[in-house]
Amino acid sequence: MIRSVVMLLPLLLAGIAHAEPSSDARVSGYHGLGDELRALQDDDFANPGMLWVDRGLRAWETPAGAEGRSCRDCHGNPESLRGLAARLPRWNAEMERLEDLDGLLRSCISERQRAAPPEFESDALLALATLVAHQSRGLPLAVDVDGPARAAFEAGRASFQRRRGQLDLSCADCHDRYAGARLRGETISAGMINGFPLYRLTWETLGSRQRMIRWCNQAVRAEPFEPDSADALALELYLAWRARGLALESPAIRR
Ligand code: HEC
Ligand code: HEC
Repeated sequence: MIRSVVMLLPLLLAGIAHAEPSSDARVSGYHGLGDELRALQDDDFANPGMLWVDRGLRAWETPAGAEGRSCRDCHGNPESLRGLAARLPRWNAEMERLEDLDGLLRSCISERQRAAPPEFESDALLALATLVAHQSRGLPLAVDVDGPARAAFEAGRASFQRRRGQLDLSCADCHDRYAGARLRGETISAGMINGFPLYRLTWETLGSRQRMIRWCNQAVRAEPFEPDSADALALELYLAWRARGLALESPAIRR
């Protein structure tokens, strides 16, 4: 898929140059799926992403760390975290930095549960992140971009517009200007992040928002961001704002 998009891009840019700019087209990638994939996402028994929710639930109940405490011992039911994922990333005033769901989970596990935090993109972290995000399914994304988060938000917005990589393309080139354009039978989506963590058929597995950003950077042969870096989180904040009001769908299905 990366290859086909990249190889066809010059054609695309030349050929569909009349696509209307759609800078405020907040349309979930769900609408670009065919009927079958939409049905797969909607069916909790068939949706492969639900396996990560189940794994997350098992981890939630499992004692770990210095005092042998489970997530449940301190947090009760996972539903107690409903709403959280829809508001991330958010500014941590004490640390003077943004935090996303993966970062929050890792810091709670290391500082409060006092266990070794799972690696970024590991199945263990994806399972907990999907469990927590799933609690907010149906809630509109609503991140706070005012006050101390403002500078990071503006940096994320600039990053989205900045051309990068050997192909010299910005995120906006594909997801704003050519969103909705057809490319070899595929439609380029508006690049909304309301489905994450989500199951991508291309990956044959579930992945995080940051994995998607890395994948798109690779598509234009740009250097990926360092995990959990200020640059990565600023772009994630902007993407969350850009998808504001869209219902969280995790675990969504995408091609
Ligand atoms: C020893 C008690 C303890 C354990 C065990 C624990 N947590 Fe926490 N966790 C806390 C406290 C206290 C906070 C900060 C207060 C709050 O937000 O609830 C927190 C914060 C969080 C947050 C951020 C919540 C927010 O609204 O900002 C998440 C997410 C989280 N924990 C997930 C987990 C998960 C998943 C586990 C199990 C792997 C876990 N925690 C285990 C005590 C614990
Ligand atoms: C060469 C075109 C291209 C560029 C440039 C590009 N992407 Fe993508 N992006 C894609 C394709 C193709 C997909 C997968 C199919 C789809 O959702 O359109 C995708 C998917 C996404 C998704 C997931 C959409 C969903 O519904 O789940 C997000 C989020 C995203 N991109 C963000 C970005 C960001 C951030 C950048 C800039 C770093 C970027 N993209 C740059 C082509 C591109």
